[in-house]
Amino acid sequence: MSELKANIMAMVGPKGGVGKTTISVNLAIALSRLGKKVTVVDLDLGASNLHTYLGLKQSRVSLNDFVLKKVDNLSDIVISTDIDGMSVICGGDIPGIANLHYQKKMKLIRHLKNLKADIVLLDLGAGASFNVVDFVIFSQQGLLVTTPEIPSLYNLYSFIKTYLFRRLIFKFKGLKNNAILTLLEDAKDFEANPHLNTMNGILTEAEKIDPASVELINGLLNTIKPFVIVNRAKSQKDSNTGKVIQNLMNTYLNINSSVLFSVHEDNRVGYSLTKSRPVMIEAPDSLFASDINSIAAMLCRDYL
Ligand SMILES: Nc1ncnc2c1ncn2[C@@H]1O[C@H](COP(=O)(O)OP(=O)(O)OP(=O)(O)O)[C@@H](O)[C@H]1O
Ligand SMILES: [Mg+2]
Repeated sequence: MSELKANIMAMVGPKGGVGKTTISVNLAIALSRLGKKVTVVDLDLGASNLHTYLGLKQSRVSLNDFVLKKVDNLSDIVISTDIDGMSVICGGDIPGIANLHYQKKMKLIRHLKNLKADIVLLDLGAGASFNVVDFVIFSQQGLLVTTPEIPSLYNLYSFIKTYLFRRLIFKFKGLKNNAILTLLEDAKDFEANPHLNTMNGILTEAEKIDPASVELINGLLNTIKPFVIVNRAKSQKDSNTGKVIQNLMNTYLNINSSVLFSVHEDNRVGYSLTKSRPVMIEAPDSLFASDINSIAAMLCRDYL
C-alpha cells in the first residue's frame, strides 16, 4: 500500500479476534505451497501467539533479541519450519515493545524488506495505533480482515481512514505544505468542521488554498487499493457485508478501487487450533482451506 517497492504484506484487522493470525499462518502455508519463499512475522508486539497456531513452543530467539540489540540482523532470528519454503519470526514480549519508537520501527521495517524471501507476511496486533498503521504504510499491500458484524466493519473503515490521513500527512509534511497540513488537522475534527467530513469537501477547500495539492491528493488516492477479507462468513449475505466498507470508502474517502474476498466460517478452524496444527495441514479439504488457497492464488496472480 505504499510507493516503496517491497515484498511485504501486512495482515491487519483493528478489531481483536477477527482471524488475523489464523489467516496469516494458513495463507503463509498456501503461498509456500505455490512455490513462494515466505517468512511470516509475529508483529502482535506484546501479545504474540502466532507460534502456537503452528504448534511451536516459544522460540529461543524472538523479536526481543533484535529490539534489545542482542543480534544485529533480523535474519538471525528467522526460524525454519517443517513446511517447505516457510519460515517464522516469533514475536517479542519485553515491556514497551508494543510502543516502538519511530527510529526503531523504521530500522525494523528496513530489515524486514531485506529478508531473503519472496513474501514477508506481517501478522499485526489489533487496534489502530501508529505502530500498526505504519507497518501497513510501509508494506506493499495491506490485507484487511473483518468479520461480518457491524462493529468490526466500522472499525475497519475507521482504520482505513486513519491510514489515509497518516499517508496524506506524511506526504504534505515532506513537502512542508503547512496550509494543507492545517486543513487535514481540521478535517479530523469533523464536528467542528462538518464541511470537511468527506474527501470531496477536503478537495474543495484544498482547491481554494493550494490548487496544485488537489492533483497530489488524487494521485495518492489512486494508488490505494485495499484488499478486504470478510472472515467467518456464514452466508452470502455475510460475504456481501464487505460492500458496506466499499460504499463508505467511495462516499467519504474517494477510494474507488478495492478487492473483496470472503472466508467461510468453518468449525474445522477451531478444531485444528485445539490440535495445535494449522488448518491447511489438519483439514486441507475444508472450506476454509479452499478459501485460503483462492486468496493465495489471487495474490500470486495479481500482486506479486
Ligand atoms: N473462518 C473461521 N471459522 C471459524 N473460526 C475462526 C475462523 N477464523 C478465525 N476463527 C477463530 O477465531 C478466533 C480468533 O482468531 P485469531 O486468533 O486468528 O484472531 P486475531 O485477529 O489474530 O486475534 P487478535 O486480535 O487477538 O490477534 C480463533 O479461535 C479462531 O479459531
Ligand atoms: Mg492475532
